Amino acid sequence: MAKTIVVIGAQWGDEGKGKIVDLLAERFDIVVRYQGGHNAGHSVQVGDRSFVLHLLPSGIVHPGKTCVLGNGMVIDPKAFFQEAERLMEQGVEVSPSRVKISSRAHLILPYHRALDHTSEERLGNEKVGTTLRGIGPAYEDKVGRRGIRTADALVPDVLRSRIERNLEDANRIIMAYGGQKLSADEIFSEMSQLTERLSPFIADTTHYLNVAATQGKSILLEGAQATLLDVDHGTYPFVTSSSTIAGGAIIGTGLAPNRLTGVLGIVRTYTTRVGEGPFPTEMLEGEAEMGQLIRERGREYGASTGRPRRCGWFDAFATRYAAEINGFSSVALTKLDVLDALDEIKVCVGYKVDEQELDSLPSVSQEMRRAEPIYARLPGWKSSTLGTTEMNALPPEARRYVEFLSAQIGVEIGLVSTGPERSQTIVVQDSALGRWMAE
Ligand code: GDP
Ligand code: IMO
Ligand code: MG
Repeated sequence: MAKTIVVIGAQWGDEGKGKIVDLLAERFDIVVRYQGGHNAGHSVQVGDRSFVLHLLPSGIVHPGKTCVLGNGMVIDPKAFFQEAERLMEQGVEVSPSRVKISSRAHLILPYHRALDHTSEERLGNEKVGTTLRGIGPAYEDKVGRRGIRTADALVPDVLRSRIERNLEDANRIIMAYGGQKLSADEIFSEMSQLTERLSPFIADTTHYLNVAATQGKSILLEGAQATLLDVDHGTYPFVTSSSTIAGGAIIGTGLAPNRLTGVLGIVRTYTTRVGEGPFPTEMLEGEAEMGQLIRERGREYGASTGRPRRCGWFDAFATRYAAEINGFSSVALTKLDVLDALDEIKVCVGYKVDEQELDSLPSVSQEMRRAEPIYARLPGWKSSTLGTTEMNALPPEARRYVEFLSAQIGVEIGLVSTGPERSQTIVVQDSALGRWMAE
């Protein structure tokens, strides 16, 4: 059976999924996104060229690879064409011959963006801190059975009647919160033009992927967001609105579950979070300077929204949980070089909570809200690891840090990333990931 590997963020996003998917894509035939939308920002650096992918899989940078936007995604057609145009200016081909969008993927319409704003305003102090891209409201319509799928939008009467019906309700909410009433005619006119341009890209990607798998094509599934942002398994309600875990790849593509041959977890050597919600190891108060140092060294500013990312220490409790629910076969550990300047590195190995209380708490979200981290302290290496390509060339303290994290997570480390560029990578040949790369 050909390999079908799913790549999953193990923390709260921005672990470096884009870099690793780009690196792996060369060894795969098809690269697929299966959930989320342009809330994602995946950065790829090849030599001195930088790319940021929002809707398109990071495999797009490799000529000749087929890219699929699966049924589990929510797609803003305007954002799709903006991204496609930017990539084409950078010399990347984005054409229907290599990009397929599922006929079952749902559209993000202008009223979804407006509703994302009103929803956040209504929540006030309890807001989620969304990317304001309309992601949540589009998924609400999908589950509420009022959504508009890409294929529906190609039938003008269907598009118009659904816009009119949905906008009636949306406008009530938007105007009640002081927003501007939206016009169904304007939205119809804009969307019908955009979806017509989209039509050559639209395909039955479920059938396409299952046939490809049967024919022995290798498939790389690129998760967006991350485990702790999963709508079921994350730190609810401070989550995104899709299934970001490995199981989501099945639902979001229609590939049969027994097609999956491996799960790769992307884990950063420290943690960041954008938006609100619990974050036990966040560097606050006494550690604000350390947080700032990491933010600057790691360039921790959102690839989609430019927001400064909250920074914190590595959380082994959270990452073990991610390993458990995703079943990581291997882990790619990213951004080791960012820690080069530190004298000492803290790792949260667990939380101080009453065991009995823990048993009765239903979700990682509540556990984290009450959590007080227990820290191990490891010595830093105070020398540059930037661009290192061999494990043996790492300072002993850095190697120890990598081994310590692997033991804490309970999963092998198949790759260590030592810089943003494709080649700034250590691959552990004798690992599941090493074997996927050799095949
Ligand atoms: P994603 O959303 O998981 O794809 O991650 P982002 O692209 O949003 O954020 C990761 C950032 O870290 C990007 O700017 C990458 O270029 C960068 N990056 C990835 N791996 C490394 C690494 O090993 N070292 C450093 N210094 N930067 C990295
Ligand atoms: P990548 O794929 C980090 C966060 C938002 C907010 C919450 C809900 O680049 O790792 P949404 O707009 O999805 O309704 O916002 O999820 N969020 C991300 N955080 N990386 C991302 O994507 C994210 N996508 C959404 O900040 O807290
Ligand atoms: Mg990102």
